[in-house]
Amino acid sequence: MEIKNVKRVLVKFSGEALAGDAGSGIDLEILKFVANEIRQLANANFEIGIVIGGGNIIRGVSAAEGGIIRRTSGDYMGMLGTVINAIALQEALEYLGLDVRVQSAIDITEVCEKYIYRKAIRHLEKNRIVVFGAGTGNPFFTTDTAATLRAVEIGADLIIKATKVDGVYDKDPNKFSDAKLLKTLNYDEALRDHIRVMDDTAIALAKDNKLPILVCNMFKEGNLNAILTECSGEYSIVS
Ligand code: GTP
Repeated sequence: MEIKNVKRVLVKFSGEALAGDAGSGIDLEILKFVANEIRQLANANFEIGIVIGGGNIIRGVSAAEGGIIRRTSGDYMGMLGTVINAIALQEALEYLGLDVRVQSAIDITEVCEKYIYRKAIRHLEKNRIVVFGAGTGNPFFTTDTAATLRAVEIGADLIIKATKVDGVYDKDPNKFSDAKLLKTLNYDEALRDHIRVMDDTAIALAKDNKLPILVCNMFKEGNLNAILTECSGEYSIVS
């Protein structure tokens, strides 16, 4: 796939990324940093959809571990967590002067719009950033799957899995000093246990719809923009 032909992107990053050293909640400095990275993409005229995880607020699976909270309820709590993150990012992006709409898969119209894919596309066409909250609106699905689903629905050219590492390695770079970054790999390779770019459902959905996945580090200043505008820097592409 050619990065230079990309116009519409869906950026996915984890909620934990917003927590910083505290491990939970929202670190305002990190929120500002992330908003600045997104602003660079907006200034470069990319149409941008965003999905943020909710792990900094609550994770459904972990909440259910003690047996008190049922998994389904835990997952719904997690979905509400993603809406909190979406609103926070909307505020941070608007503070930078960008136009942003939040759409939630769970109806909470006092807080934000509900998810309507045709409206999301109109917002993108009008150069508004759309932040998709509440996952898919269903328990048992990850926010990676939600991001892939939204990317396919809005006709994104690319889903960007923004992480804390430079891309996908042939082996664990924390354990092996000779681990090599894989510039390209296919969907089946991305599904392998030791790689697992995203969960199986998300990768299968991307594969079925030929949606390329770009894995990169969003915590290097300017990296996201450099990759998309100049194809420079380290990253991996699954296609
Ligand atoms: P256009 O139709 O292109 O004018 O889009 P727009 O989003 O500017 O217009 P709209 O009148 O739909 O929205 C105006 C503002 O209200 C925006 O900030 C929306 O995010 C917000 N808004 C729209 N629908 C809802 C909703 O159902 N709930 C909440 N809380 N806000 C909404």
